[in-house]
Amino acid sequence: MEKTWEILEGACYYCKKCRLSEMRTNVVIGKGNKQAEIMFIGEGPGQQEDLQGQPFVGPAGQLLDKMLAAVDLQLEDVYITNVVKCRPPGNRDPHDDEKQSCINYLRYQFALIRPKIIVCLGRIAATTIIDPDFKITKQRGQWYERKGCYIIATYHPSALLRDETKKRPAWEDMQAIRKKLDEIRQKGV
Ligand code: URA
Repeated sequence: MEKTWEILEGACYYCKKCRLSEMRTNVVIGKGNKQAEIMFIGEGPGQQEDLQGQPFVGPAGQLLDKMLAAVDLQLEDVYITNVVKCRPPGNRDPHDDEKQSCINYLRYQFALIRPKIIVCLGRIAATTIIDPDFKITKQRGQWYERKGCYIIATYHPSALLRDETKKRPAWEDMQAIRKKLDEIRQKGV
């Protein structure tokens, strides 16, 4: 069956596959350019995101905006979403069964957008998408390739807000992401 944003949005809005649906104010699907070459994937909505129905609009989102602007990327250049689409209570990590319930929505988004680059923001996204044993401090900044898509993980903006020393490596990752995008655009693939 043909995939469409309307089907995805309908499925998400009515989703009751896990307990997070019982506590949500809004389902948070994604924002940005639905034809972007880069997809950023965070963990799950926080309080502001749950209230506004948009990903990365709270303090972590403001820092993400700055990180993007630092490498000359705007919201029109990227698509931003999360592993889980409903807020885990108290911003706890999403449980395995909650991620499992939600993962097909992320796959569906990937199929619709067909990005050339995926950026995992933090450990939860990296362990869900790259490797369950992924170690963010050791393996961030490394490129992986799957089905012609380049994948990289960097620190979650919330981690940067807690620990200033992570800002430099995150900045280097953003520059590597910018460089990869420029290379892909040059090759015209
Ligand atoms: N943290 C996330 O992982 N995602 C958001 O949308 C906001 C904060």
